[in-house]
Amino acid sequence: MRTWPSDRVVLGGDYNPEQWPDATLDDDVARMRECGVGFATVGVFSWALLEPEPGRYETAWLDRVLDRLHDAGIAVDLATATAAPPPWFARLHPDAMPVTRDGTRLSHGSRQTWCPSSPDYRRRSLALVELLARRYAGHPALAMWHVGNEFGCHNLMCFCDTSAAHFRTWLQGRYGTTADPADALDSLNEAWGTTFWSQRYTSWDDVVPPRATTAIPNPTAELDWRRFCSDASLEQHLAERDLLHELSPGVPVTTNFMVGFSFDGLDYHRWAPHQDVVSNDHYLAAHLPDAHVELAMSADITRGLAGGDPWVLMEHSTSAVNWQPVNTAKPRGQMLRDSLSHVARGADAVGFFQWRASRAGAEKYHSALLPHAGTDSRRWQEVVELGRVLDAVSEAAGSRTEAHVALVHDYDSLWTTDAASTPSTLHRYRDELRAWYGAAWRAGLTVCGEHPEADLSRYRVVLVPSLHLVSDAGAASIAAAAEAGAQVLVTYFSGTVDPDDHIRLGGYPGAFRDLLGVRVEEFVPLLPGTTTALRTPPGSAVPALDRVRGSVWSEWGRAEPGTEVVAEFADGPCAGDPAVTRRAVGAGSAWYCATRLPDDGTDALVAALAAAAGVRPVVPGLPPGVDAVRRRGDGGSWVFVLDHTGEGARVPLAGTDLVTGRACSAEEPLVVGPGGVAVVREGPGGSP
Ligand code: GAL
Repeated sequence: MRTWPSDRVVLGGDYNPEQWPDATLDDDVARMRECGVGFATVGVFSWALLEPEPGRYETAWLDRVLDRLHDAGIAVDLATATAAPPPWFARLHPDAMPVTRDGTRLSHGSRQTWCPSSPDYRRRSLALVELLARRYAGHPALAMWHVGNEFGCHNLMCFCDTSAAHFRTWLQGRYGTTADPADALDSLNEAWGTTFWSQRYTSWDDVVPPRATTAIPNPTAELDWRRFCSDASLEQHLAERDLLHELSPGVPVTTNFMVGFSFDGLDYHRWAPHQDVVSNDHYLAAHLPDAHVELAMSADITRGLAGGDPWVLMEHSTSAVNWQPVNTAKPRGQMLRDSLSHVARGADAVGFFQWRASRAGAEKYHSALLPHAGTDSRRWQEVVELGRVLDAVSEAAGSRTEAHVALVHDYDSLWTTDAASTPSTLHRYRDELRAWYGAAWRAGLTVCGEHPEADLSRYRVVLVPSLHLVSDAGAASIAAAAEAGAQVLVTYFSGTVDPDDHIRLGGYPGAFRDLLGVRVEEFVPLLPGTTTALRTPPGSAVPALDRVRGSVWSEWGRAEPGTEVVAEFADGPCAGDPAVTRRAVGAGSAWYCATRLPDDGTDALVAALAAAAGVRPVVPGLPPGVDAVRRRGDGGSWVFVLDHTGEGARVPLAGTDLVTGRACSAEEPLVVGPGGVAVVREGPGGSP
């Protein structure tokens, strides 16, 4: 996997000069130089300008933009412009407009109005890609290709007849082990459990997407549909990418992911291996009290998708967005902190949507690098300061973030946990992920997102929150990590179903029963507002769990001989049954948690895991809310320190803070101001 651009931490963003008179270009470029913009993503939504009529292309304006950016030394991430087809596309190809689950055919007038399975969209988009690739492959400004934009954001699912046919072909590929489609249909019936509710298929013609229906849809059909939708968009991505590789060899190709709180549509574990550079868009979840922790989790998962290598933050915002219920502004200092949190976690490029705030259109109230108020504004001063800081920390580009804790996550588990008809709608996959990620974050431990089937044995702590669906290979890889010496924590509702979404019989948590030495007979989800107390037996490995109250979930179960009960349920229907357990496995341990713990509980358990694993915070002893992350490379190591407490901190590090240029040492510790940031190049003797 390559990083891009390779030798600096670079500032940039979406640049849409077509929204402005030609003369604005000169001013834009001058301002970009003033704040240190090093890359611009151009052309994302310009199909209607590039091809005003079918087959008639106008590229002179884009030539001008690329030439001008190149003269200014600004690298171009050139979009294939296929994200939003022009209105004429809808007129010529009404069948290519997406259809919703209830059968409504959507119209043009917004963006991403195309069915991912449409052959007309494929043909017309590839014609545009070919035109752009042939014209710009040799342009000196071209540094990367940007396929589409945020695949699946608005058109993830289309329920039209074309999609239905595509879905059937996909299913035949999944279930066909012989040349006979009837065998594949038998396998599908088996996998989908269609004897239930009289759903047995006897003809492929009857297999359709899970359109609106009377009651709970078939869960495995729904799961396969979600897998298919991810793959259908991936097919479009690969078609564009392959053409770019052929016509523009050597230029990396990416598409921007949306790893974060608001999107769960694509299986990025399947997408990531197809990226020359992994890039991500992240927008703060203003409704979360700890939005900066959600940001950190997104960045750590993105780095995992990039195989631990540096990646590109393609978009975030300088301040407000335009699509949340209340689009609040970022307080002073937050844009810099957010940006450096991504850089600490491996981003070597910091991009924004967008360069110049729009005057018109759906996003005119979205913040930008150059705000409506112009350069005579505090936001602009912050942008200039951000450019200066990124330049100052550029020596860290190419280095890798150090992490000893894995957070195992998976889209099949997300989709099946958040589906209809599970034991509790209070249990949401990402809440459980965030709960355990948050505990590691508060403990000062750096985390990396990993797929269950990745090699987890290089981690000292492996967190496995609610991995509802797991393959045998995934379960084996998690067990192997414990054997190899990791402290592995599995939480409730994990291992329950196989990849067909069928229950693993004989007691929960199915695939993890032997590893954990726990056998659960029945789930006992808790009603809203209800909690259950925990009690620790004498000699418990985590006495701090005594009297902590669990919520959302409890279970009737037992610890098998050799499994230690760390805490049990003290009241309610599960009183006396294990709530938290530990079992020695090989050189490590396998822990189980059967309820949703409040923060003090997750914190106590993560502290115990870290102590048993011998993992220490990056900077021990920091006040809660002061984030410290280390990147390490050939040129040295750098510790990023971000103060989210608003109170500032004295930090025992030795070296030079690249943000201020000041030295720090055992005698003169680093001082980070309230809400401030520091990036310390660790000095020869390292940190005290
Ligand atoms: C992203 C998108 C951008 C812009 C931005 C607004 O999802 O890629 O084009 O819409 O959101 O926050």
